Amino acid sequence: MSGIFITLEGGDGAGKSTQAEHLVAWFEERGLEVVRTREPGGTRLGVELRRLLLHGGEEVGDVDPRAEALLYAADRAQHVAKIVRPALERGAVVVQDRYIDSSLAYQGAGRVLDVAEVRRISEWAAGGLWPDLTVLLDLDPATGADRRLARGGAADRLESEAAEFHAAVREGFLALAREEPHRYLVVDASLPIDEIHTQIIARVAPLANR
Ligand code: TYD
Repeated sequence: MSGIFITLEGGDGAGKSTQAEHLVAWFEERGLEVVRTREPGGTRLGVELRRLLLHGGEEVGDVDPRAEALLYAADRAQHVAKIVRPALERGAVVVQDRYIDSSLAYQGAGRVLDVAEVRRISEWAAGGLWPDLTVLLDLDPATGADRRLARGGAADRLESEAAEFHAAVREGFLALAREEPHRYLVVDASLPIDEIHTQIIARVAPLANR
């Protein structure tokens, strides 16, 4: 595959969307086609799955952790097959909010499920597709929650989880980054927006020139 696949990860309020926008602009200035997308919810099926996962409430009742992991995997399978792979095959750049690492951090580290098992089903769903680069915007969960509240955002189901859960998720992401330093870039998300962008571009530029 000839395109470039970049994912952004991190807790709520870490600034993924802002950095994604800057990154898209950087690639577009260089004349490249960019597909900006996200999980869950990057396809029509995914929009339905996203609604059930994040805002299902009484409609879906208490969701079993394995069922939840499989719904994220289903969203991923559809998204990779219909959006990400075709884009990479035609040489486009894919800039995506959240991917397999979110499943490992949220369903694995933060929950009762085994990370290796979650990885297995997620890899199967994605047909073994891994990003060229994963940017982890690392932020203290309390700061992220304050930022979200300042934006006036209401908490979805996962965002309302206890502080310990968010701390475990953060640790989960950092552990993944330590395991795969060649795929990961960890950035301190409390830095100014421009400084974060500069650090990201330092890692992205060699991919764009290869
Ligand atoms: P979203 O509003 O996209 O989150 P954010 O703005 O924080 O990026 O909501 C996605 C939520 O879904 C987020 O809380 C993380 C969670 N999630 C998982 O638990 N597992 C996954 O595999 C993915 C992709 C997301």
